[in-house]
Amino acid sequence: MNEIKTIGVLTSGGDAPGMNAAIRAVVRTGIYHGFKMMGIRKGYNGLIHGDITEMTLRSVSDIIHRGGTILQTARCPEFVTEEGVKKAISMAKVFGIDAIVVIGGDGSYRGARDLSKFGMSVIGIPGTIDNDIGCTEYTIGYDTAMNTVQDAIDKIRDTAYSHERCSVLEVMGRHAGYIAINVGIAGGAEAVVLPEKEFDINKDIIKPIIEGRNRGKKHYVVIVAEGVGGAIEIAKAIEEKTGVEARATILGHIQRGGSPTVRDRVMASMMGAKAIELLKNGVVNQIVSLRDNKVVGIEINEALDTKKTMDEDMINLSKILSL
Ligand code: ADP
Ligand code: F6P
Repeated sequence: MNEIKTIGVLTSGGDAPGMNAAIRAVVRTGIYHGFKMMGIRKGYNGLIHGDITEMTLRSVSDIIHRGGTILQTARCPEFVTEEGVKKAISMAKVFGIDAIVVIGGDGSYRGARDLSKFGMSVIGIPGTIDNDIGCTEYTIGYDTAMNTVQDAIDKIRDTAYSHERCSVLEVMGRHAGYIAINVGIAGGAEAVVLPEKEFDINKDIIKPIIEGRNRGKKHYVVIVAEGVGGAIEIAKAIEEKTGVEARATILGHIQRGGSPTVRDRVMASMMGAKAIELLKNGVVNQIVSLRDNKVVGIEINEALDTKKTMDEDMINLSKILSL
């Protein structure tokens, strides 16, 4: 491996609050350690098409509090082909890039692994609201997204109380229910529907609502993870089977925006700095991860092979607390 002098940074896949804080940390720590830093716009798209510019200390001024990503992001089907990866490698050479920091989810790491197979050094940083990356306990954006959902639940609960209704909220998370289970607990939901658990509408939603009513409840919150979906149909079924008026809200992309929380800013700063520390020490092709509350690097194949499982205790807790 040649000495690393110039490092590119890109954001890829769905954006997440805190990605800007991560870009800032990568650029500033990189410059601090004497690297030349290049910003690659719109994910792998910008790498293929040469949408690349040098970043200075001031390029990342005044972004730590901003949601989204100043480098913008994209899903790039061209990059999934071998030809696309080769084009990306040639373009990186044109700009003198020796290593690339990829901020994104596991799809983006698969892309990064393809780059590494053609000799490009890569480091991944977990950036997605879903917290669905196996190798790490935390992904940048997760806390902010959960707080956004929490704010929405609190507001929806106000009106559900006034009308004695059931509110069914569909939350993001792709195929994972981490956002759903946490906001279910934090928002005091009567039922949480997760993609990780088989679900039976009568047993898991209708029964708790009827039993809750028998114990004196008059309004209800049901959280549905988008990986299960069907919030509108679930609301209809609740009305039909319980007689409780129900309304569905699909929160959508509001969950992806907004100013990052302290947790996301600090995690992004630590993870960004770790990416540069690894490269400075000649460690490449790793994913920055939170393990046992420490920021470490995990080899990219091991990282991609690691599965995450839903904590059964959290599911049980959400049921007990909704009594
Ligand atoms: P995330 O990184 O959030 O999981 P995606 O799955 O959409 O988001 O992936 C982002 C981009 O990474 C894709 O548009 C594509 O360019 C690249 N990518 C995704 N999956 C692969 C794969 N299996 N092989 C190579 N590149 C991939
Ligand atoms: O991965 C982040 C995420 O917001 C998921 O929760 C959701 O399934 C997906 O991205 C939505 O993607 P898009 O912005 O392309 O609609």
